[in-house]
Amino acid sequence: MEPTARIIDPCRALAAHQAPSLSAILEVAGQVELSGTDLDALALPDHDQPYGRRVLLADPRLEVMIATWTPGITCAPHDHGGSVGGVRVLRGRARHRIYTIRDGELVLCREHITSPGEVLSFGPNLIHSMSSEDPDTPLMTLHFYTGAIEMMLVYTESETLAVDGSCGAWVPEDPADILGRVSGVLARDDLVSRLGLHTAASPAVD
Ligand SMILES: [Fe+2]
Repeated sequence: MEPTARIIDPCRALAAHQAPSLSAILEVAGQVELSGTDLDALALPDHDQPYGRRVLLADPRLEVMIATWTPGITCAPHDHGGSVGGVRVLRGRARHRIYTIRDGELVLCREHITSPGEVLSFGPNLIHSMSSEDPDTPLMTLHFYTGAIEMMLVYTESETLAVDGSCGAWVPEDPADILGRVSGVLARDDLVSRLGLHTAASPAVD
């Protein structure tokens, strides 16, 4: 069976549910088995960005994407538009940083190096960043997001940006993908209110 089919077939079953549960997503994420040859075939580098995106499934209930990370480039701290899901480390190791907003600042509250095959889970309010930790084995990760992400937040040194949900975790090159931007660090609800943006309700999860 083709490597993409081995990932997509169980994901389609997940997407058949109105709201795929986080526990079911994490179970599927943990069961994915891909050889080095499979990973070579699935890799899609983008050396100008923190990672290249290969979208495997873009179902309104579940998006599945493989990220092929560029060594030496950390993605911007970001959220996932209220989505919940998981990230499976397929190859290499990730430096994973989790942030919180305190007194108008983005504060690093946890940082760790992932283990081989580790599955990270995230809730609707997670703000995080990742990078490839092992220079000899560039990181590849498999991402699961519930619901269609309408808009996500990306944080730079000085701004909070609302960007189209199809973007990666960096400032988009195409200005049309930037839905709004404000100075400083804003939480999602505050940014939506400030910019008068309309967003769909967050997907329900178990
Ligand atoms: Fe992320």
